[in-house]
Amino acid sequence: MAEDKKIEICFLTNKDVKGFLALLNNVWPLQHTFQKQWPHTSMPDQKKFKEHLLLKEGGFVAAHVGIYPQDMKVNGSILKSGSIGGVATHEKARGKGYMSVLLKRAVELLHERKYDVSWLGGDRKRYGYFGWECGGRVSKFITAPRYFSEYKPRAIKKFSGERVYLNQLTKLHSAEEFGQKRSRALDKLLYGRLKRDTWLALERDKVLAYMTLGTKHSDEQARVLECGGSLEELKPLIKHAFEKLGFKRLEAVTPSFPNRYKEFFNSLSWGDKSDDFYGDGCVKIINLSQTLKKFVKQMNLKAKSSVLSGRHSVTLVMEGTGESATIESAGKIVRVTANPAKLKIVLNEQDMVKLLFPLSKPSEWMKLPAGAEFLDILFPLDFFFWPLETV
Ligand SMILES: CC(C)(COP(=O)(O)OP(=O)(O)OC[C@H]1O[C@@H](n2cnc3c(N)ncnc32)[C@H](O)[C@@H]1OP(=O)(O)O)[C@@H](O)C(=O)NCCC(=O)NCCS
Repeated sequence: MAEDKKIEICFLTNKDVKGFLALLNNVWPLQHTFQKQWPHTSMPDQKKFKEHLLLKEGGFVAAHVGIYPQDMKVNGSILKSGSIGGVATHEKARGKGYMSVLLKRAVELLHERKYDVSWLGGDRKRYGYFGWECGGRVSKFITAPRYFSEYKPRAIKKFSGERVYLNQLTKLHSAEEFGQKRSRALDKLLYGRLKRDTWLALERDKVLAYMTLGTKHSDEQARVLECGGSLEELKPLIKHAFEKLGFKRLEAVTPSFPNRYKEFFNSLSWGDKSDDFYGDGCVKIINLSQTLKKFVKQMNLKAKSSVLSGRHSVTLVMEGTGESATIESAGKIVRVTANPAKLKIVLNEQDMVKLLFPLSKPSEWMKLPAGAEFLDILFPLDFFFWPLETV
């Protein structure tokens, strides 16, 4: 460690790229370098230097917190997340409050940069001190070879960066109604990740379906990190994973709301229903009213197919900051406004996440005040990340 112990908090610069990458590789000694397995969070690209907050101790890069912009597609709206990743303190510098200092600075930046929410995949207790809470439900399915015997094999190829296929992967992914809205440059990094192979079902050079696989915990079980294209053509890809790659089980994570992937994996799994999980995710609400507005279309869809009638309104208030937003419904039309309602629900920021993004309807974990029962129809609010694109 350097002798001069001056502490400095700064963004990444050219001068510190080496130290930054050395830190990540010290903290996560992976089979391949960190930047090959997590290129989208660690590419030292000058345009993205402000995504990386460093804490330097006498010039030595001792800690890092990444703030990665992720645009989530939610029923035609874009929910802007300043997602947190690459949280790391060098093993010789731990326990001195470095992560805490950087996270507090990151929270200030999340507000300055006007994000709606901040998502992260991490420990509930660790990030709970800074306002994140488990939120955002996903469904999980396990499928096995017995469901795939009847499907004929297709021409199947492992993607290795070919431009002709990358263009088609980008097209297929961007046509999805949920998941992250991504640039082609980001797609190139994600589909090029080591230890996450993307398999293509082809007809000549046409990509009919694709599936990105990763392993976690066991060599016998793979995880579908992302998939797309025709579901019929996905079946030979899954069969390939069992027969040629030797996996015995495949885990797939899909959105909890009705969608074609959920139906597909449900029909190919044992048991008739899946359980919902938080998908390793924690959420922090950065701007309550902006966040609720991004879900207005989703709330209206839920209202439309429900028994909701009459007039209801409730103002949600964040304890501490006093930030508020009102949800109003008239018949089956839902709006988010700044008009204060008579009925108020005041919650701290973690309980607000539990109200908006729980696993099941809010009244299952909290007592909704009289007049606010209509929130059971509108919440949980649903968004989804493919595991491939998390940071
Ligand atoms: C996790 C890690 C970044 C912590 O770095 P650090 O600089 O030592 O953290 P701090 O000194 O700020 O905090 C020390 C502890 O106090 C805890 N803490 C912070 N605020 C607190 C509070 N208000 N009350 C009680 N505890 C608090 C922190 O959660 C941390 O404990 P944890 O590591 O069990 O979560 C570091 O241990 C590391 O790099 N680990 C390996 C990589 C990793 O797991 N990264 C996180 C991926 S999700």
